[in-house]
Amino acid sequence: MAPCHSTFDFRLYDFQTKNMKLTLKIWRQKNAAAEGKIVEYPIDGIEPDMSFLEMLDILNDELIVKGEDTVAFDHDCREGICGMCSLYINGEAHGPDRLVTTCQLHMRKFKDGDTIFIEPFRAKAFPVIKDLVVDRSSFDRIQQSGGFISVNTSGNTIDANTIPIPKHDADRAFDAATCIGCGACVASCKNSSAMLFVSAKVSQFALLPQGKVEAADRVLNMVAQMDAEGFGNCTNTGACEVECPKGISLENIARMNREYLSASLKG
Ligand code: SF4
Ligand code: FES
Repeated sequence: MAPCHSTFDFRLYDFQTKNMKLTLKIWRQKNAAAEGKIVEYPIDGIEPDMSFLEMLDILNDELIVKGEDTVAFDHDCREGICGMCSLYINGEAHGPDRLVTTCQLHMRKFKDGDTIFIEPFRAKAFPVIKDLVVDRSSFDRIQQSGGFISVNTSGNTIDANTIPIPKHDADRAFDAATCIGCGACVASCKNSSAMLFVSAKVSQFALLPQGKVEAADRVLNMVAQMDAEGFGNCTNTGACEVECPKGISLENIARMNREYLSASLKG
């Protein structure tokens, strides 16, 4: 019997990891009151399969060895779930990929020799705390103003499945609920509008019977808080939907506007 052999020619395969050399231009700002500026950092030995945040970890390791101040940036789950990571990368919130957060962005989206600009999300309602970290507590205050339903959780709760909900409504409520509160919509909008975020939070309840009881108060209070925080108005440019890592649809803004109108007429 002839010996079995593979047709794959290993001599042609490049087993070397293709390390990338990059120039990072990063916004450095000591604190909220200090003036910030772009500082240049050359970096070498970056593998294409690293995540963007791992690349920043390597930079910070190098800065620690040199005794320099590390670059502050937000992160937590590194799985696209928590909404903590941010960053404006080469002029786009969460960078050049679509439907991913910065923690899910990989260095293969860049080329060896590239220069990458890294800035914080910029909006009046998201003041810079340090370097690339911004204060997004304005989103928390909007949520606290109405992003909930009041239910008795003292042991008498009804099983959710006892209330029949049309599949179409359940699916759209679920889609709205996938908003992770990252703020990319605000950072992408020329008006720093938070309408996509707020409309997702309003919609996820407005579509379900459990959310209808407090629907009027919810939309009025959340929109009032959004305005009080200093977010701008929506002028339908749609940049928020394009840059949203969770694909939250503009149809939520239309729904929130209808909810708001109906609540205002009732009031
Ligand atoms: S709507 Fe999208 S971009 Fe805006 S906070 Fe939610 S997930 Fe982030
Ligand atoms: S670190 Fe949690 S979504 Fe990026």
